[in-house]
Amino acid sequence: HLISAKNLPKVIQEIIFEETNKIKSFYDTCEGRRSLQKTLRDKFGEPLFFRLLFWEPSLRTVCSFQDAIRALGGEYETTQHAGKFSSAAKGEKIIATTRILGKRCDGIIIRHDNKKEQNALKKSADTCEAYNLKTKIINAGDGANEHPTQMLLDMCTIWSLKKHEFLSGNLTYGFIGDIEHSRTIHSNLIALKDYGAKKIYLISEENNNLPDWLVNETKDLPIEKIAYLLEVAPELDIGYFTRYQSERKSQSKYDSAYYAEKFGATDEFIGITKESAFFLHPLPHGKEYREHLDLLDPRFIHHQQADNGFYVRMALIKLMFGRE
Ligand code: NCD
Repeated sequence: HLISAKNLPKVIQEIIFEETNKIKSFYDTCEGRRSLQKTLRDKFGEPLFFRLLFWEPSLRTVCSFQDAIRALGGEYETTQHAGKFSSAAKGEKIIATTRILGKRCDGIIIRHDNKKEQNALKKSADTCEAYNLKTKIINAGDGANEHPTQMLLDMCTIWSLKKHEFLSGNLTYGFIGDIEHSRTIHSNLIALKDYGAKKIYLISEENNNLPDWLVNETKDLPIEKIAYLLEVAPELDIGYFTRYQSERKSQSKYDSAYYAEKFGATDEFIGITKESAFFLHPLPHGKEYREHLDLLDPRFIHHQQADNGFYVRMALIKLMFGRE
């Protein structure tokens, strides 16, 4: 199962990144496509079957999983709004859902809101183990906890652009915005424990902090929490922007224009950053990014990053489920 970034130590990540590069290099050839199509087959030669259950909205994650499964010759069914359109709406718990679906498919890819049930992803994986179900669970985002496959594509993007400094732990990172609720930041910090970093700035409002479980988990990283982005902007090698996740707070003092001004890619920010820096964003963006930012400044690589999602998820699924 893939529930946490902790399931993906550096050695495994590097295998996935090498596989990603390999797939990228032959994806645009007839032979390459044909050979990938044979990847997800069972012992009878039938396509492997996946269920995607999404409690929360998604564009990039859901599509890239679907496209990756299709490219590898597998099949899938997707339930969007799973909290409303499955028996979850009648109060069914994730354990019961997993017990039924787990017998009937090879993988279940879940994005959960953790609203009616905490740690739903872990409960689902534990259920598979307890009942010896053949299916594997993949976390496609669980509430404000973690998003390990987004971490993979983020790390893969940095790995391909700044390999040497990344692997030698020599980069200065700035994680900007909603530190408390960004599950992608949480999984990225766990991954950076393995890679190391020169410095990690967490740049957000004073009352916007990492959740307690992550503070303990990341205590050995060179983390500094600060409130003013412009103060450290010139030091950053990698800037990681996030939108403010208002859906996770009932009352928010952040009006989006204020947030964009403090934690956005303003002209002032852009003007004082390193020429060699790169800026990532898991998307979707709010006002912290203006449209076409990547056309104005090629250091904003969120579209390359999002494209990597397809290839990285293909590599991951191939390695987790592939015939070889
Ligand atoms: C993120 C998510 O869902 O956690 N998006 C994504 O998967 N690419 C970020 C967000 O929702 O802001």
